[in-house]
Amino acid sequence: MASSSPFILLLLPFILLLSPIAAHNVTRILADLPDFSAFNQFLSQSLVAAEINRRQTITVLVVDNAAAAPLSSLDAETLKSVLSIHVILDYFDTYKIHNLRRRTTLFTTLYQTTGVAENNMGFLNFTHLADDRLAFGSGVKGSPLTATYVKAVTAKPYNISVLQISGAIVPPGITDAPLAPFGAPITVVPEPLAPAPAPADDDAPDADAPAADSPAPTADSPAPAPDSPAPASGPAPDSDASAPGEADEDNSSAGRIAGDITAGLLATVAAVLML
Ligand SMILES: *[C@@H]1O[C@H](CO)[C@@H](O)[C@H](O)[C@H]1NC(C)=O
Ligand SMILES: *[C@@H]1O[C@H](CO)[C@@H](O)[C@H](O)[C@H]1NC(C)=O
Ligand SMILES: *[C@@H]1O[C@H](CO)[C@@H](O)[C@H](O)[C@H]1NC(C)=O
Ligand SMILES: *[C@@H]1O[C@H](CO)[C@@H](O)[C@H](O)[C@H]1NC(C)=O
Repeated sequence: MASSSPFILLLLPFILLLSPIAAHNVTRILADLPDFSAFNQFLSQSLVAAEINRRQTITVLVVDNAAAAPLSSLDAETLKSVLSIHVILDYFDTYKIHNLRRRTTLFTTLYQTTGVAENNMGFLNFTHLADDRLAFGSGVKGSPLTATYVKAVTAKPYNISVLQISGAIVPPGITDAPLAPFGAPITVVPEPLAPAPAPADDDAPDADAPAADSPAPTADSPAPAPDSPAPASGPAPDSDASAPGEADEDNSSAGRIAGDITAGLLATVAAVLML
């Protein structure tokens, strides 16, 4: 064996760790869906697509071509910021998003990682309304909820979920330039925090909800007190079904990376012992 080989062997786990493993390609996922071609184009040209592909546990909120059209009025930098706000740093598929314990919470978005987000701009306000609509708005205090959940587009548990929402979310103050209108605030039924009585869910046919969602409201019986800390559940992959608070970082993938590093170290130790 050449003298350099053991050294390369030692480095191998780290080389593997550092090379980006493209687990998904959001451009390709959306390429099959002409309804989202404009949004897909924006993701590519802003390079936010590459950012999405680099991350392993992620949710992308997309809008159809009609709702994406006003985004073309934004300058390149603002467009990139706005798109980053549509990327949630956790995995929420249709089941998880319908069954969050908290009726309202802030989702951490990719924009928050840029370090330039101020005034809660890097967060999305998610609110499960009393009429069962799932509403989204900027996390900026006092800003209205402006979009609602439409449907699940793609889900690759627990790596990437793509959800369609009704309109793009553009936080007030993200640019000094006057903004084209991005849709009126949605009408919010009073008392969005009141837990919907379970029987009401059975009576009202929910067009959006796939069959898998139906048993959920009964299973999720405890009253979703907004301020109660998420109970620590087991280490099952969907244990983070409870809503993350604003302080809840992308813990699952951090844990996974830590695990990878441990595995890499073990492999290195094994390689050393075998020499
Ligand atoms: C992602 O998919 C698009 C469209 O198929 C392709 O052009 C691009 O090269 C892919 N990116 C990566 C990193 O594989
Ligand atoms: C989200 O927005 C609604 C409506 O503006 C508000 O009542 C709620 O407190 C907000 N949620 C959070 C977590 O800030
Ligand atoms: C999710 O990502 C992990 C790590 O990159 C990968 O091993 C796994 O195959 C991916 N799952 C899917 C469904 O793509
Ligand atoms: C993240 O995970 C670690 C270990 O699994 C745990 O100790 C910690 O409390 C978690 N943090 C959050 C914010 O959930």
